[in-house]
Amino acid sequence: MVDSIEKLKQRVEDYLAANLAADIDQSTLSASMVYSTMAGGKRLRPILTLATVELLGGQLNDDIVRAATALELLHTYSLIHDDLPAMDNDDLRRGKPTNHRQFGAGMATLAGDGLLTLAFQWVTDNQLPAGTKAELALELAKAAGPAGMVAGQARDIEGEGHHLNLDQLRYLHRQKTGALIHYAVLAGGIITDQPAEVRKLLAKFGDSYGLAFQIYDDLMDVVGSTAQMGKKVGKDAGEHKNTYPGLLGVAGAEEQLHRALAGARSAQAELAQVTGNSFAAYDDFLAYFKL
Ligand code: IPE
Ligand code: IPE
Ligand code: MG
Ligand code: MG
Ligand code: MG
Repeated sequence: MVDSIEKLKQRVEDYLAANLAADIDQSTLSASMVYSTMAGGKRLRPILTLATVELLGGQLNDDIVRAATALELLHTYSLIHDDLPAMDNDDLRRGKPTNHRQFGAGMATLAGDGLLTLAFQWVTDNQLPAGTKAELALELAKAAGPAGMVAGQARDIEGEGHHLNLDQLRYLHRQKTGALIHYAVLAGGIITDQPAEVRKLLAKFGDSYGLAFQIYDDLMDVVGSTAQMGKKVGKDAGEHKNTYPGLLGVAGAEEQLHRALAGARSAQAELAQVTGNSFAAYDDFLAYFKL
């Protein structure tokens, strides 16, 4: 049985609401970490992990929810730092003033540091088997760190005002956004102890979905609204960011989005074939992309 996205989202929300503040021991830091985490994101990444566990026949429990929700802490750190004046310099996030607008750049930096570190605590401080926790921690470190998301963010800021070609831009997007989504899906396979063949297909789904997700984010910066996105749109061009619509135009970016989604759908079909399970529940995640 696979729970609906809404039900899994509620489980993540409830877990965060009940457990986040308990692990922070400084009042301003706590307010700052809770502020951004509880500001209402889509919770896509932990939901992807939990849905993948269920699709592979696993039963959810609080230990799995804790390990999965760790990724939302880490993702929220990446947003707080992404918005800092020295990075994208944004004022609005998840429909609210950005963390540094509310708490100052110093506390926002520390809130990010705290969320990044706490993510690894939640991945390992639970009752999952020791081998599972070690694998999750290793894969999360690789996805989030200097060969993953952080490397993509470095390419992103260094690329401002420099022209990247499509191969370079795809690589950047796979790192800055694809890596955490790759981990989100793969984690479901680690938690349910899948063979290498299944893990490879999970990674393929995550990579394609992750690339699509950032292409769509770039598109929404051009054709979306602030109300819909909860952050200011129309900013990338002014910041001289390398984006899909910037390089290929809106139609060209949409074509690349469709290609990435086709890759995700083919991984979804292969997963069904190899495992004998229905992966139809991934359709609900693919429905996010509305053009
Ligand atoms: C925003 O991520 C940053 C990108 C990688 C594009 P989300 O679109 O998942 O943001 P929230 O978590 O819903 O706020
Ligand atoms: C993704 O890129 C950010 C992270 C990896 C944290 P963006 O800079 O495009 O994300 P938004 O548009 O600010 O959410
Ligand atoms: Mg950015
Ligand atoms: Mg940004
Ligand atoms: Mg963006």
